[in-house]
Amino acid sequence: MSETPNDVRAAGATFKPRVFSGIKPSGGLTLGNYLGAIKRFVSMQDEAFETIYCMVDLHAITVWQDPAALRHNTRELAAGFIASGISPEKSILINQSQVPEHAQLGWILSCIARMGWMQRMTQFKDKAGKNAQNASLGLFGYPALMAADILVYHATHVPVGEDQKQHLELTRDIAAKFNHDYGVDFFPMTEPVIEGAATRVMSLRDGSKKMSKSDPSDASRINMTDDADTIAKKIRKAKTDPDALPSEAKGLESRPEARNLVNIYAALADMSVDQVLAAHGGAQFGTFKPALADLAVDKLAPISGEMARLMDDPAEIDRILAHGATQAREITTPILKKTYEIVGMVGN
Ligand code: TYM
Repeated sequence: MSETPNDVRAAGATFKPRVFSGIKPSGGLTLGNYLGAIKRFVSMQDEAFETIYCMVDLHAITVWQDPAALRHNTRELAAGFIASGISPEKSILINQSQVPEHAQLGWILSCIARMGWMQRMTQFKDKAGKNAQNASLGLFGYPALMAADILVYHATHVPVGEDQKQHLELTRDIAAKFNHDYGVDFFPMTEPVIEGAATRVMSLRDGSKKMSKSDPSDASRINMTDDADTIAKKIRKAKTDPDALPSEAKGLESRPEARNLVNIYAALADMSVDQVLAAHGGAQFGTFKPALADLAVDKLAPISGEMARLMDDPAEIDRILAHGATQAREITTPILKKTYEIVGMVGN
């Protein structure tokens, strides 16, 4: 690879800056996905990066998915990406199962990752719950496939919410062990990009729990497909405490629900928490919640409208994904081939 001023040094080798990130089509998109991940995906495509964004359907099926719902959710997620501002002209937009090199490299990396590493993953413990023996093998090995998603592009930057940090540290461990075991500088040390006021959006019903598409309570989250009335109602009913908003961020320290609503406001308005509190400090929630609801409707309604319009033409979404898969495979095919060569596979 030739060097450019933008190249980054990793593991002694030179890798071009390249962004990869993914979202599971295991339900609808939430405000957490939008603020924690997608908003950053959009801004990175306009920076000096090559950007690849992925619907990770193979990851989704680590827990049971109804096939018709999975198909619907995958297309709706693609619509959500595009409606939020990800341009298929600027970014490569793909569905994971359409680029088989992800699963192929996933197997190799499963042979690099250690059981003990996987056992430490908090997301596995949360998802498997008390009955870990009954969890799928895929759920246990999930982070090895995630490492493959990233490394099969030699991606150097991965924008994600806070909850993915541990998986990205593991990706570095897997890359380093591969490089070490085979005596190569082949996989880069990927940098997590966890930035902004809302890297961990919390449930609207419980400030100690992450906002999640798998929470049984629909009132706990804002879905990107919610209409204006539903968004306003959910914000009005969000759990809060009885005090007015403080005028400085320090005053939010032991107030998780208040902090969550202020963080959401800041991220939606592209303001800092201090700027939000300078404007709204002293306000009661009776005043702040309607202001937040207006802002959320203002920012999210155009996205949900555009998603619905795109979903009227699923064949066009499928065309965009097929084109993305072709572009992606131009990158992944030679990287997988080289991986096979390094490992000693004959005839590849
Ligand atoms: P997933 O589908 O759970 O979430 C997708 C992205 O949304 C972020 N996110 C949040 N951010 C802030 N607050 C929240 N409440 C919130 N909920 C979700 C997540 O941090 C994530 O960035 N394992 C990944 C998918 C994946 C992936 C990858 C990501 C597979 N391969 C390779 C990056 C690179 C996941 O389950 O995301």
